[in-house]
Amino acid sequence: TLSVDAGATGPTIEETMYGVFFEDINHAADGGLYAELVRNRSFEFTTQDNASYTPLTGWREVSAGASGTAEVVDDDGRLNERNRNYLRLALNGDGGSADAGFGLANAGWGGIALTEGAGYDFSVWARTDQPATPLTVTLRDEQGTALASPLTVEVTSGEWTRYQGTLTADATTDAGQVEVVAGGAGSVALDMVSLFPQNTFRDRPNGLRPDLAQAVADLEPSFVRFPGGCIVNTGTHEAYEAPDFPRERSFQWKETVGPVEERPTNHNFWGYNQSYGLGYFEYFQFSEDIGAMPLPVLPALVTGCGENHHTDDPELLQRHIQDALDLIEFANGPADSTWGGLRAEMGHPEPFGLTHVAIGNEENLAEEFYANFERFRAAIEAEYPEITVVSNSGPGSSGPLFDDLWRLNTEGGVDMVDEHYYNDPGWFLENNDRYDSYDREGPDVFLGEYASRDNTFYNALAEASFLTGLERNADVVKMASYAPLLAMEDGYQWHPDLIWFDNRESWPSASYEVQRLFSVNRGHEVVPSQASTTPIEQEPITGGIGLGTWLTSATYDDVEVTSADGETLFADDFSGGADRWSGNGNGSWQVVDGAYAQTDAGVEDALVIAGDTGWTDYDLRLTATKRSGQ
Ligand code: AHR
Repeated sequence: TLSVDAGATGPTIEETMYGVFFEDINHAADGGLYAELVRNRSFEFTTQDNASYTPLTGWREVSAGASGTAEVVDDDGRLNERNRNYLRLALNGDGGSADAGFGLANAGWGGIALTEGAGYDFSVWARTDQPATPLTVTLRDEQGTALASPLTVEVTSGEWTRYQGTLTADATTDAGQVEVVAGGAGSVALDMVSLFPQNTFRDRPNGLRPDLAQAVADLEPSFVRFPGGCIVNTGTHEAYEAPDFPRERSFQWKETVGPVEERPTNHNFWGYNQSYGLGYFEYFQFSEDIGAMPLPVLPALVTGCGENHHTDDPELLQRHIQDALDLIEFANGPADSTWGGLRAEMGHPEPFGLTHVAIGNEENLAEEFYANFERFRAAIEAEYPEITVVSNSGPGSSGPLFDDLWRLNTEGGVDMVDEHYYNDPGWFLENNDRYDSYDREGPDVFLGEYASRDNTFYNALAEASFLTGLERNADVVKMASYAPLLAMEDGYQWHPDLIWFDNRESWPSASYEVQRLFSVNRGHEVVPSQASTTPIEQEPITGGIGLGTWLTSATYDDVEVTSADGETLFADDFSGGADRWSGNGNGSWQVVDGAYAQTDAGVEDALVIAGDTGWTDYDLRLTATKRSGQ
């Protein structure tokens, strides 16, 4: 029974409530939202980053009637100091015909999706030791059949020069490749070998894949939190220029702006390389294009995400604080300021209108983080008092670290605290009242990352239920974003995710539909209401497989599964509420450490598993006692 008090008024739901969180996890940027089709375009992959990488990862040699050698070199002839490796093709000159050549082919991330009639912009930085070296660029399918009239580019300079041209595909394939072969003799140097679809979101140069960008835009998000996540506060906080060009660096915005060929690549926390082609300018531009407020996250110089250390280097901290100030100038400063000038040079003379900056992500060291946070906040407020500086409450929805961070944030009068939690759907159902008891005088809540752990309809339903709790507490909760946003089907590190994609298509999860439902149909004011239900009186229960679904939405003690002849296949009394039961989805039982006893997805999995393991001969019996009061 739902009772609505139509005459009463509740809290106002801020315009900012529903947004998105974009992190380059699951190949969300290169190979995903960033439309570049060539993987490892600047030959910067190294074994040092990943045992499976070489500087030629993504590439294979192609001999088109002539021979030669392909070598990646890092010497004084490099393109620039931030893009150190380049490809040297040494040509044996044994081709004998004008179109013979030797070179390389790249198939992107598991094949380039090419579409009949679509145009593709090819570009390359090159120099030659010959009067001229012809490059023949061809789009091919998996079998090697040409899918477009080849493009010929004449490299005529001994100095690095950018060459470009366009190809139009005359057939469609999801397993395409781009081939670049050089003719003649001598040697030619190549770098930044790039192929971009002409069709990008809002026709932006160096732009975004339209279907993915549109799927995000369709959520009508009011903010975009970026660029992480763990890629912000892990790795070294040294700059690229530090001795030895450190590779696993935290996300440092200055490395990601300016000409793409001058952005040093980086190896990220999620185990793969980032080109930074999708950098801070592109994030700001995308946010503006979809009418969302940009919300950048900067490292606080205290590592999180399982890396528990912080830097004691005051100069390094000061440099990052200055970077934060420079970022605000980059976003909002006049076109004749240093960083506002770079923004204008990149094509956006008008300010981006930045209003919020977050410092830190899922911090593990409360005191150390908060000390640094205060330094950032003081410096930002002194120069830009209009900017809201967002703090955070570490990983998880509760615990001593969470309490410490909330205490420090509250005592320090922080404006807004970023909370993150990933829990089972049952937790989301049981914690609808989470914010009912939050201090109305304390910091506002930004729920920057949350998801229930799976991508089923049930998860989406649990999240929808939870969102009603956020809205009911909209006087405290001002912003919320599901995480992660994007996931490459054949290259993800985290599940569940909101939008899935391969090299051509993308598809939403059930959770996406919930986000869209709430975001597109926004309420402005909460109308107080009350619901009451009739308890189900069926405990204890005993039965067969069909009862699995019956068990999906409550907490149970004393769960036992037996075969018809009495063999116990699984039993747990969850004494002390210290464990929860879950099936691991591949045919075995699993008890996972957790904070409470809950059998939602676990029971369903278990029953499916019974079939998967060839246990169909068993007549399974499931017994469970519902926790009292439910
Ligand atoms: O959203 C995936 C990861 O979850 C984020 O990088 C991190 O902040 C959290 O642990």
